[in-house]
Amino acid sequence: MRFPWVFTTALLWQLTDAQHARPRKLVESPSTLHPALSPAEPLEVLQLYKPLPVFDLTKCDVQQTLMEHTFASSYGVPFVGSYTPPECDFNSVVIEWTVTVAGRQFDRLAEMYLGDIEVWRTSTAEPTASGIVFRYQKDLSMYLSLWKTPQDVIFSLNNVFDSTYTGAFNTTLIATFSYESTGQAHADLVLPISPKLGASGAPSIFTLPGDNATAEHILPLNVTHASVSIAATGQSNEEFWYTNALQSDIDTFDSTVGTLPGYGPFREVQLFIDGLLAGVAWPFPTIFTGGIAPGFWRPIVGIDAYDLRDYEIDITPFLPYILDGKPHSFTVKVVGIDDNGGNGAATLSEDSINSYWLVSGKLFLFYGSEPYNGTHEAPVISTSPLIQTSSSRTVLNGTNQTLSYDVAAKRIHTVKSSFGSWIQSLDYTNAGYLGQRGLFQQNDQKTSGNAATVLKSAPSFSNTLDYIYPIAVNTTYTFSGSNTTIDASLDRGMKISSSGRPDLSTYTLVSGPMDLSTRQIGQASYSNKPNNSYSFGNMDQAFSERSRGTTYSRHLKSRNLTLVYDEPL
Ligand SMILES: *[C@@H]1O[C@H](CO)[C@@H](O)[C@H](O)[C@H]1NC(C)=O
Ligand SMILES: *[C@@H]1O[C@H](CO)[C@@H](O)[C@H](O)[C@H]1NC(C)=O
Ligand SMILES: *[C@@H]1O[C@H](CO)[C@@H](O)[C@H](O)[C@H]1NC(C)=O
Ligand SMILES: *[C@@H]1O[C@H](CO)[C@@H](O)[C@H](O)[C@H]1NC(C)=O
Ligand SMILES: *[C@@H]1O[C@H](CO)[C@@H](O)[C@H](O)[C@H]1NC(C)=O
Ligand SMILES: *[C@@H]1O[C@H](CO)[C@@H](O)[C@H](O)[C@H]1NC(C)=O
Ligand SMILES: *[C@@H]1O[C@H](CO)[C@@H](O)[C@H](O)[C@H]1NC(C)=O
Ligand SMILES: *[C@@H]1O[C@H](CO)[C@@H](O)[C@H](O)[C@H]1NC(C)=O
Ligand SMILES: *[C@@H]1O[C@H](CO)[C@@H](O)[C@H](O)[C@H]1NC(C)=O
Ligand SMILES: *[C@@H]1O[C@H](CO)[C@@H](O)[C@H](O)[C@H]1NC(C)=O
Repeated sequence: MRFPWVFTTALLWQLTDAQHARPRKLVESPSTLHPALSPAEPLEVLQLYKPLPVFDLTKCDVQQTLMEHTFASSYGVPFVGSYTPPECDFNSVVIEWTVTVAGRQFDRLAEMYLGDIEVWRTSTAEPTASGIVFRYQKDLSMYLSLWKTPQDVIFSLNNVFDSTYTGAFNTTLIATFSYESTGQAHADLVLPISPKLGASGAPSIFTLPGDNATAEHILPLNVTHASVSIAATGQSNEEFWYTNALQSDIDTFDSTVGTLPGYGPFREVQLFIDGLLAGVAWPFPTIFTGGIAPGFWRPIVGIDAYDLRDYEIDITPFLPYILDGKPHSFTVKVVGIDDNGGNGAATLSEDSINSYWLVSGKLFLFYGSEPYNGTHEAPVISTSPLIQTSSSRTVLNGTNQTLSYDVAAKRIHTVKSSFGSWIQSLDYTNAGYLGQRGLFQQNDQKTSGNAATVLKSAPSFSNTLDYIYPIAVNTTYTFSGSNTTIDASLDRGMKISSSGRPDLSTYTLVSGPMDLSTRQIGQASYSNKPNNSYSFGNMDQAFSERSRGTTYSRHLKSRNLTLVYDEPL
């Protein structure tokens, strides 16, 4: 079965009296949520991001409603619509998604597809009893070649709607077409790395482990620049992968909190071309609006919750090898840690991840004037993954009391050919600690990376990219009969600095140079007692982005689920 029915978060994280497995995905009962708000004024739940520039509507001024749809019982039932390009001359397409929802509901992952190609991955905010509204604007001009022809618009939002989960998502998706004289480059051809199910009205997405996430393509011979964008999201037992224990430690606290999610707190997304490693991505720890404790994320959602960035790998150095008029395979894998039963060097394996990751990819191809007529040697690849793990326990009277573990990873990955080079350098550490027999958990993770692209075949696409994603999160659980409480604190951030490309990047979300810096610091608590569920949260987020020649800075604070501070920095 294509859809991972059994892993519906709603079913997975239900508390049972038999075993107090630590719940990490939560909803609240409607009774206690925002009683003060009237239904006429739904609470706005927002993601902090730099607003898009105002459209230039002089040459083209068209809006199209791509979708007006309610997602109620929508598990495996996507919206399917059809798109016809407007008559005017356009080179910019921006979508705006507006959602209203009331009741009790988990956060849900959603994806938008044009045919076989996933163009946007997003997630929903958790509602209140009296209702919330959220909206997000996204520039999808990098898919201009797709927008120029009729397409099936497929929007998947797998929701459960019943007497317990009463929130249905009323959604509107509007596209604005305009002509912007920014000189932005657009890919001549976009090809899917997906199961290609668009024609049957199904979402084209792979589930790992399980699927063979491979697509084969014959490339036009005049391509001078090619990059691959990959969307990859951990769900279910992989949603909080950055807090997972080493596999050899998962039974440390069986008697108090049950089996811990395993395969360690490190994941790598890998791209292979004909079985050769083209590049990797070390994922950002996205936290959805029910994640850890819902009180963190109302009314300010987590970094990127409404727009999960695609990771980018420049594959131009592979072009001499693959521009031969023959099919070549593009494969995405997600690997975790095989810790080999203890301390020391560990290996990465696609068998070492839990269920499950949702992945899809696409190739962005730019044409030059002449077909390639040289030789077809494979690029020179050198790669050096290094994974170290250590773990220790304290035991009192035969009972495990605490568990400490550390994971460090490094990789330098180089691909070189006559067309240019792609060099990645990545660093990672995670210090994990579980105390109180598993009822307290602390993780302190830092991921940083650099990618340098130097291209002879398309010099204007040469660029450098640096990023850092730190996250520190503490969680304390208490269980007493059927009463559960969670107290959590976190401090996380994202910094991205890019010298820029002439096209719109699926990672930086802009064309040209950009510098982004944001940090979220918060405390939240959650209490679930019979007929009395309660959430509390404070969040402090600073955000600054310089891109497209302007800077946008904003500082927001929420206290007890209410916005209390909103100032430019
Ligand atoms: C969703 O739409 C339905 C039908 O128009 C309406 O009855 C309901 O109130 C809407 N819900 C929200 C939360 O806006
Ligand atoms: C995955 O699919 C590709 C092409 O469709 C095929 O060549 C390859 O053998 C498959 N791999 C596995 C592990 O099944
Ligand atoms: C203590 O932890 C070890 C390692 O995870 C595990 O094998 C063992 O079963 C645990 N002991 C108890 C009593 O739970
Ligand atoms: C490049 O190749 C494509 C596909 O064969 C063709 O449609 C296009 O016209 C070519 N572009 C140039 C500039 O030669
Ligand atoms: C190969 O391409 C180059 C540059 O595009 C061109 O100058 C040359 O004539 C071509 N050679 C052949 C044998 O077609
Ligand atoms: C450990 O066991 C000893 C001997 O049975 C007992 O005296 C002591 O109280 C126990 N300690 C704890 C913390 O349970
Ligand atoms: C659960 O919480 C309720 C309400 O605060 C309280 O009356 C009850 O005693 C608690 N039950 C347990 C087992 O702690
Ligand atoms: C987590 O707890 C540790 C130990 O109490 C503390 O030093 C650290 O600052 C806490 N981290 C966060 C993000 O609150
Ligand atoms: C919870 O509320 C329901 C319906 O109001 C009631 O039947 C039930 O007894 C209550 N449970 C507790 C533990 O108070
Ligand atoms: C949060 O606000 C609610 C009212 O919406 C209030 O009942 C509660 O006491 C507040 N909690 C704190 C910790 O201030």
